[in-house]
Amino acid sequence: SIDVADAGLLAGKHVLVTAGPTHEPIDPVRVIANRSSGKQGFAIAAAAAQAGARVTLIAGPVALPTPGGVCRIDVETARQMADAVEAALPADAAILVAAVADWKVEAATSKLKKSDGPPQLRFAPNPDILAILGAHPERPTLLIGFAAETDDLVANAGSKLRSKQADWIVANDVSGDVMGSHRNHVHLVAADGAEDWGPMDKTEVAARLIDRIARKLG
Ligand code: CTP
Ligand code: CA
Repeated sequence: SIDVADAGLLAGKHVLVTAGPTHEPIDPVRVIANRSSGKQGFAIAAAAAQAGARVTLIAGPVALPTPGGVCRIDVETARQMADAVEAALPADAAILVAAVADWKVEAATSKLKKSDGPPQLRFAPNPDILAILGAHPERPTLLIGFAAETDDLVANAGSKLRSKQADWIVANDVSGDVMGSHRNHVHLVAADGAEDWGPMDKTEVAARLIDRIARKLG
């Protein structure tokens, strides 16, 4: 059974979680965003705190209450999230659930005017936080990414596991209606294989993942 909550199995451990989307400004009033609700990451932060961990939750813009016992740092952009993550090291486990924008926009300093016609946005790459942690001198003992995929779920997750030097990728099947939902269907992908956890509540995914992390950290 899965109940690390009362056992305090993560007592003395520092768990770092990223959650939610990032927002990339176009001009002072407009952003590019994505559909991440933050629910899965917040559920993981809550479960880690219940298991006795010291939890740092670095959250993009979401409409969710801070789970009890969690230290929350709010950020907007991928750059800010990357800086906050590095500042929060060292960590025993890092679980990067955030849907980080892959590109930022070279933002205008004044509001773009409709009368000037559709803007030609220029994109530039954002830092890849998971890859940065994978190669970091203070790499967390256990480094876990999430990968939202619509196709070739386990194969794509395996590629990300290797290229970003993560220990596990929680591969998230978003071909259905998962965005914003309280349910999730994940596969836990590791170097030695993948496990299908089947459809379940995001709180149940969180409890199982925290149980696995606690057992791995010992
Ligand atoms: N990630 C990150 N920083 C980024 C992009 C992604 O830390 N700039 C992390 C996510 O938090 C997640 C994992 O990398 O844990 C996989 O994110 P995903 O968007 O699926 O991977 P990408 O490498 O960006 O590939 P793509 O979007 O093309 O599928
Ligand atoms: Ca991406």
